[in-house]
Parts: sequence; C-alpha cells; structure tokens
Amino acid sequence: MAKPTTQPTRREGFGSRNVFIMSAIGSAVGLGNIWRFPYVAYEGGGGAFLIPYLCALLTAGIPLLFFDYAIGHRFRGSAPLAFRRMHRAAEPLGWWQVLICVVIATYYAVIIAWAAMYTWFSAQTTWGAGNENDFFFGEFLQLGDLGAGVSTQFVPQVGYPLIGVWLVVIIIMALGVKRGIGRANMVLMPLLTVMFAVLVVQSLFLPGAVDGLNAFFTPNWEALADPAVWASAYGHIFFSLSVAFGIMVTYSSYLKRKTDLTGSGLVVAFANSGFEILAGIGVFAALGFMAQAQATDVSGVATAGIGLAFVAFPTIVSQAAGGSIIGVLFFGALVFAGITSLISVLEVIVASLQDKLGWGRVRTTLVVSIPIALISVALFSTTTALFVLDATDAFVNAFGIMAVALVAVILVAWILHRLPVLREHLNRRSSFRVGWIWMLLVGLLGPVVLGYLFVSEIIAKTSTPYEDYPDWFLWIFGWGMVIALVVLAVLLTLLPWSSRSHAKSDPDYDAFLVDENYPPNTETGAVVLPGVASNGARS
Ligand code: ALA
Repeated sequence: MAKPTTQPTRREGFGSRNVFIMSAIGSAVGLGNIWRFPYVAYEGGGGAFLIPYLCALLTAGIPLLFFDYAIGHRFRGSAPLAFRRMHRAAEPLGWWQVLICVVIATYYAVIIAWAAMYTWFSAQTTWGAGNENDFFFGEFLQLGDLGAGVSTQFVPQVGYPLIGVWLVVIIIMALGVKRGIGRANMVLMPLLTVMFAVLVVQSLFLPGAVDGLNAFFTPNWEALADPAVWASAYGHIFFSLSVAFGIMVTYSSYLKRKTDLTGSGLVVAFANSGFEILAGIGVFAALGFMAQAQATDVSGVATAGIGLAFVAFPTIVSQAAGGSIIGVLFFGALVFAGITSLISVLEVIVASLQDKLGWGRVRTTLVVSIPIALISVALFSTTTALFVLDATDAFVNAFGIMAVALVAVILVAWILHRLPVLREHLNRRSSFRVGWIWMLLVGLLGPVVLGYLFVSEIIAKTSTPYEDYPDWFLWIFGWGMVIALVVLAVLLTLLPWSSRSHAKSDPDYDAFLVDENYPPNTETGAVVLPGVASNGARS
C-alpha cells in the first residue's frame, strides 16, 4: 500500500516576468481607476488634484508597492506565510489582509455584475432616454423607500449576473496561477487597453468634450489647502495600486527568484496611473458632452462614484451619436478591469489557505470561493444592497486597508527592524536601487501620514454617523465588521499549520535561501546545507 505523503504541494508561479507584470497591472487597474478616480480627482480640485495624487504616488504608493514586493519575494509566501517567515508575531497581519480581501471580494463582484448588465443594456438603450437615474436606482437595483436595512428580497437582474460573475472567476481561480490567472490577464489586459484607447479617442470627439477636459484639468488651488483632499489622494492610491491588502505580497511570491523587482514595480505603478488619467480624460470628455446637451455646466452632471458610471454614462449612450458603442466599450472595460482585479483579491485568500492547509488548488478554490460567493449573492442581490455596499466599502477602506498598512509599517520598521533586510533584497537584482529615502518614506513618512489619516477618519466617522445610517446598521456593516476582521485574524493565526503546509517544509524556499545566501528557514528550524533541503532531500 502506498505510504500517505506528507510532502506539501509545490507552490505555483507565473511563467515569466511579463506575465507577472501584466497580472500586477491587471490587479491594479480596476473599478477604482475607471469610475472612482475621475470623480475623486474632480472633487479634489480638478487639475490641482494631480499634485497630491503624484505626491501620494511617489511618497506612499510606490514605496509601499516595493515594500509588498520585497516581503512577498523575500519570504516567498502568501501574506500570512510571508509575514510569519519574517517573524512569528507578524502572522496576524497576513490574516487581517486575507479577511479584508474576503470583504472586498463580496461587493467588488456585484459592481462587475452591474457593469455586465449595463454592457448588454447599452446595446439597446434599455433605460429609455431621460430615465437613466430612476432606471438605475428604481428599476434595476429596486431600491425601496425603506432606506438602510437588510432585506431578503431577491433582485433577479442583479442576482443572476452576479452568480455568472462568480462562476467565471471560480473557473479562472481553479485553473491555477499560471493557467488561470496568468492567461486571463494576458488575454483581458490587451483587450481592455484597446477598448479603452478607442473609448477615450471617441469621447474626445464628442461635442462639448473640451468643456469636460477644462473642468477636469483646471486647477482649483484652494483645494490644496484642504487636508481632506490630501487624505483622499493617499486613500485612493492604496486601493488603486492594490497595495497593503496582500495582493502584491502574494503575486510577487510567484515571481522567479532572479527578478528585477523595483523595475517591475515602476512599470506597474506608472501603467496604473496612466490608465487612471486616461480614464479621467475619457470620462470628463463624456461629461462635457452631457453638460452641453443639458445646457448646464460639468459640476451639474458630475455625481458620486456609483452614479457617475451607472447614471451618467447611460445618459451619454442615449444622447450621443454612436452612444451604444461608447456604452459597450465603457461597461465592457469595467467588466474586464473588474475581473482581473477580483481574481487578484481572491488569490490572496486561496493562496493563504493553500499554504496553511497544504491542500490542492481546485479543492481550496472551491472551499474558499463558494461560501464567499454565497455571502456575496445573499447580501448584494437584494433591495438593500446599495446601502450595505456603501457602508462596507467606506469602513473596510478606512479601518481595514489603511489600518493594516499603518500597523504593518510600524511593526516591520520599528519593532522588527526588517527594513534593511527588505532594502537589501530589493537591491540585489533590481535596476532601480532603493536607498535611505525609501526607508525614510516607508518607516517615517508612512506611519505619520497613515496615522494622521487613520485618526482623522475615526474622528469623522464617530462624530457623525456615516451617511446618517442607523447605528445598528453601522455597527454590523461598519464598526462590527472591521473589529471582527481583527479578532478573526488572531483566531486564524492560532489555528495550527498543517504538516503538509509550506510553513513546515518547503524545499523550494530552502533552496532559495541557500542560493541567496540568506539565513535558514526558521519555521522548519532546519539547518540548511548547500545541496540539501530542510526535509533531507538532495536538491
Ligand atoms: N486596484 C483595484 C482597483 O483599482 C482593486 O479597483
């Protein structure tokens, strides 16, 4: 009888650096770039917003992207494993990031489902001209008069496409890192780029486009004196670059050993920002058209995030020549950008459980994704979905992503003193070397800025109930949810690592440590000799 094996499954990886770069851009470019950035930029002073935006990108976004890459690539694991390999006490940080991803995945999928339906609606202008607002909130989402609450009334036109989105992403995830995630990004990202380029050029030819661009690029210098504008620029950069919630740690753990980490990071960061600014140009050119058609100014038609995409664009579809094509391109781009980001969010969760339990890919994907999909459908295909989404998104960004980033930089820089190790790792093979400025940005400016943002968010959200939602509602979907994430992260840390897990025995990691002349893997406690893996096998 065959002896049961206790060897862990081998960790997968991306086939090449190009696949990694494409996947990292695929993760970064998402719903945040296409419907969130244009409005945030407009609110934050139009052209002048580009100053805090660029400051946030250069002083926090890129340094923390390098920080995530260094952790994932140096410690070669999903977020909990990588943090644990750095230091046992750091493991809960990884689980905290995993749980943030669970929350984000549940609502991110429903926005993709809306976009998928709107791609279809655009082809036939389903909403009827002049009825775009009522159609979205009333007929499509079936938002009742009840306000914030929890309803069990199923909205089929949202629920069924949402199930469809989950089926697609579960298939991609089950295929694995190389055949699923890598391939999906290599197909969808070029398609997205072409669609977006056509959309932007088409928008520029709409009558009134120049007025929209003027509104977007004309600086409102006063906005620069408002700390809230700086806070929104920093907040946006984290979400947009996919930093601080485990994604880049996980993706970089799949990179080959000998890789130019910082060079790849710069490509990803500038591609993401390029997309974002192009999205701003396209969306505001379209809004300029709308304003001209309604004989008003652009501020009258630029509404909040969700409204901007799902109310304003249908208006353009109804009114512009070739509007259906613009609509299909815009909502189709949202679907593709959303899917490539959603799979990166799910990968954080799947990879962590694979590492901890030593399970195979398909089993882990199904065990992880089906319950998340069920929660997603239960919460976000009902008549109260919009309120739950709004509260969850606001709280998980402020007290999830921002908070975990703050704790991570303090722990790694000030308590564990690991920044020099990470810097050394980044500089081993990178074209762009990082020096004391990087350490200063991550270790000093990072905690100061994040600490300030965190405290101001607490003050803002405790002094006035968010959106005036009832207390019980905010306690469940806001405060309760973010506190539960921290408690659950500690509980998951206490769960033992399976004997099949990569934390216990990982010949690939041991060989990597030997090759790089790094200290042995303290998790296995093995003394690693050149040519001999920690499990005793000859490599
Ligand atoms: N980075 C992804 C986005 O911008 C999550 O939507």
